Amino acid sequence: MAEKVVLAYSGGLDTSVSIKWIKDKYGLDVVTCTVDVGQQEDLSGIGEKAREIGAVNHHQLDAKDEFVKRFVFPSIKANSLYEGAYPLSTALARPLLAEKLVQVAEKEGAIAVAHGCTGKGNDQVRFDITIKALNPYLKIIAPVREWNMNREDEIKYAQKNHIPIKADKSVFSTDQNLWGRSIESGPLEDPFTEPPDEAFEWCVPAEKAPDKPQYLEIDFENGVPIAVDGRTSSPVEMVRYVSHKAGMNGFGIIDHVEDRLVGIKSREVYECPAALTFVQAHKDLEKLVLTRHELSFKSKVEEEWAWLVYSGLWMEPSRLALDAFIDATQQRVSGTVRLKFFKGGMRVVGRKSPESLYQHKLSTYDRTSTFDQKAAIGFIELWGLPSRVANEKLSPNHGKKKAPLPMVNATPSRKKA
Ligand code: ARG
Repeated sequence: MAEKVVLAYSGGLDTSVSIKWIKDKYGLDVVTCTVDVGQQEDLSGIGEKAREIGAVNHHQLDAKDEFVKRFVFPSIKANSLYEGAYPLSTALARPLLAEKLVQVAEKEGAIAVAHGCTGKGNDQVRFDITIKALNPYLKIIAPVREWNMNREDEIKYAQKNHIPIKADKSVFSTDQNLWGRSIESGPLEDPFTEPPDEAFEWCVPAEKAPDKPQYLEIDFENGVPIAVDGRTSSPVEMVRYVSHKAGMNGFGIIDHVEDRLVGIKSREVYECPAALTFVQAHKDLEKLVLTRHELSFKSKVEEEWAWLVYSGLWMEPSRLALDAFIDATQQRVSGTVRLKFFKGGMRVVGRKSPESLYQHKLSTYDRTSTFDQKAAIGFIELWGLPSRVANEKLSPNHGKKKAPLPMVNATPSRKKA
């Protein structure tokens, strides 16, 4: 009996061709594994297809709930946006898929795992590092990285080997899960070309969005959403609901030039209506409940968190340490955020929280204010002291004047600051 390999199987061209190619090239029995992370493709019949092509066994796992709880929720708490733009939708699912692959391989007694990543992207790094961290004894096979076939070659190979392929006329290459949809290739490879409407499936063109604004309310508890529009539902359902509502208002498209880990600059287009909505809402709530020091340090932690996850280092212990810091800050991130969508745009229009640090009696300009404006004078003297001393040195007139001008007008004033 041949040794086994477990292949991450999407049902698409690359991984279908891989079943046969691995068998021929490595002489291994191929077991396929499909993990549902909310890609919303019809996953029924995928096991039969795999067997038809030659897989000796097929595993199908529903990991939607796990994906949201273990990966998406921490990313909301981390307000994660790689290079300030990309909410890591594809990146977050990879370590989970790799983990499932390893588990199935161990169950099957396989000696190897395989995935359909190319040698040009980030996904190969995410898969390989996670797999090696979880089980260093498993060999990794990445047919697409190894075989040197282009799309036409693959189609020919499939036809020659009676591998059923979908008549997929799309020029776009996509990857999707509950948290977003990544769209690449075709006309998008010219960074100056506007993405055509056909590239999008989740977000309507802004012109076709409803003519009346729509509101959405998100309730957070300890940094994670617990209800949307006043209704509690499962994490997966909340994400779907928000994705739909934001998308139908044309909100959620990202179009940016991204720095891939392998050194390539690439034009990346995404539809992430839920991710952008949740992150923006969460970030806004944090501004109400966290101190400026917490916010300032957390923004550095967030940048590092996004970088680790983007660059395939989900398994890096420092990610856990960053999570510990983030979790400590999230204990007060509870409250409600009100959002307004209109014609492709979204903004936060209200926020409230029992943990709010906003104090009307301090911020108001009316007479009830308890803020002591006179205290500002001494504060400004000391706050500006280093700059003042330095500027005295830098000034060409330094030492010529008898006395330096006072830095602020010492007359108390009741006027606005
Ligand atoms: N640039 C994104 C990332 O690295 C999206 C990758 C899309 N992956 C794909 N297999 N189509 O996370």
